[in-house]
Amino acid sequence: MLSISAEDFLFWKKKQLSKGGDKESFAVLLECLGGISTSDLNLISINPAGNLYLKQNLESLESIWNEHLLNSCPIQYICGITFWRDLKLKVSNKVLIPRSETELIIDIVCNLFRKKSEKLFFVELGTGSGAISIALALAYPLSDVVATDIDQDALEIATKNYLNSSKQSNLRFYCGNWWSPLESFKGKIDLAISNPPYIPKDTYEKLPKEVKNFEPKVALLGGEDGLKHIREIIHKAPLFLKDKGWLILENHFDQGEKVKQLLIKNNFTSIEIVKDLSGIGRFTIGRYK
Ligand SMILES: C[S@@+](CC[C@H](N)C(=O)[O-])C[C@H]1O[C@@H](n2cnc3c(N)ncnc32)[C@H](O)[C@@H]1O
Repeated sequence: MLSISAEDFLFWKKKQLSKGGDKESFAVLLECLGGISTSDLNLISINPAGNLYLKQNLESLESIWNEHLLNSCPIQYICGITFWRDLKLKVSNKVLIPRSETELIIDIVCNLFRKKSEKLFFVELGTGSGAISIALALAYPLSDVVATDIDQDALEIATKNYLNSSKQSNLRFYCGNWWSPLESFKGKIDLAISNPPYIPKDTYEKLPKEVKNFEPKVALLGGEDGLKHIREIIHKAPLFLKDKGWLILENHFDQGEKVKQLLIKNNFTSIEIVKDLSGIGRFTIGRYK
């Protein structure tokens, strides 16, 4: 551990942020590689007396920050780590960096299923880093969770993340196209969740380079209108959900009404568009009959 005065550290931090980039990415760098948590930062900003202890020296942190600013590679991929809810997850360019707006999906589930003592069966389609499924498996230790993805590399990362986050054994991973690995669970699922690729083709082409050049296309592109995968998931959901089973989908900021219509067309009830913390209709939920 390297000791540095809090004052010198704050001066250095200000200099780094003046070069560009965002505070959140800088906080990830400090926490993952520097060993300085957000609460450490809050403490020294209130009282800059005393010392801080760093895992890496300022020169090496600065060169990583410069690399991030130069080539726009997300800091999470450079560090190989991200934070999501209370989880610390490995990430590589094989998986989407789980977004903070997606965190709310777990609160939606906790509102729908209040009794943690029940044994339920949850599935997540397109798990990526495993964030949603791991959080669910931890929140509902008596329930079973199955997570799928079309990408075997993503599943390997998700499996590692699960083993690092938990000693439980109520989460399993399967590889395949949407519902296809779940044939043996037809009619047995209490809740299916998906944050599928939903970016329309035109929008995908114009994504910022830190997303388009680094995050997997398979995790982002939702066909011409962005709804290709959402349509497929909704269309087959009735075969797999239990009577009155729930489907929760994350969608693009302007897709809520269209997803609602798709759910109505496929005989879902109790449909609701749920807003994220920015007031965007980010999730569409419904119940099969
Ligand atoms: C938007 S990412 C979501 C990842 C993660 N659930 C999250 O919220 O951060 C979509 C995920 O769906 C997976 N995917 C894409 N097409 C798929 C398909 N046809 N069947 C299953 N999974 C698919 C991608 O590999 C990716 O991991």
